Amino acid sequence: MKKRENIITVAIDSPAAAGAGTQAKMISKHYNLFYLDTGKIYRYIGNLKIQNKKKFSYKLVKKKINSLKLSNLKNKSLLTNDIAFSASEVAKDKKIRDIVHNFQQKCAYQPPKKYNGSILDGRDIITVQIKDAMFKFFITASLKTRAKRRYDEYKALNNKISYAEVLKSLRIRDKSDKNRKYGPLKKTRDSILINTTKLSKKACFKKIKSIMDKKIFS
Ligand code: C5P
Repeated sequence: MKKRENIITVAIDSPAAAGAGTQAKMISKHYNLFYLDTGKIYRYIGNLKIQNKKKFSYKLVKKKINSLKLSNLKNKSLLTNDIAFSASEVAKDKKIRDIVHNFQQKCAYQPPKKYNGSILDGRDIITVQIKDAMFKFFITASLKTRAKRRYDEYKALNNKISYAEVLKSLRIRDKSDKNRKYGPLKKTRDSILINTTKLSKKACFKKIKSIMDKKIFS
């Protein structure tokens, strides 16, 4: 993989609904970076599995990922609890992770010329995808805070699900994402911990921006 030189690369890992996506969007806008929400790729594949049950195969996943357009990932219908579950199931599979790997590498290291660099968020971005990222953030929040945020998001999308169900499903997904064999979620020593439990979106961004500016403008 030929890497574009002198670009800003930002890698974020986080458990579900910790606010990583919100921060990634704010960072990408501020520094003009190409943004990829990698969870959406697993959701896309998770949905493919729900839709194709018997016809689901590595060949089908490969074909779909090879012709994947970012607009395919913007679909709000991917934001359901069932798809999140299916995503975390397919995400355990090494072959699936390998197929997704190439797509992510391209986004990380060859972002379109109009951008100053790239920012990816997910579970294994620091540990596997962009090990040499210029910035590495591990964003987290308490389980209850995350459940409340996700519950509010579902409510706004008119998804009928109770707070208790959201809490339970996040707990199950956390466990699965942290304990799986391939690409488990974990904080590396060289990543900066950002706990968003008691921080507003703005305060959190301010903190990240001050860290990034120090390095970029030094
Ligand atoms: O971030 P989001 O909640 O949309 O991700 C859905 C699922 O996709 C996660 O629970 C996780 O199992 C999987 N995922 C992953 N690696 C990533 C991003 C997401 O395994 N880099």
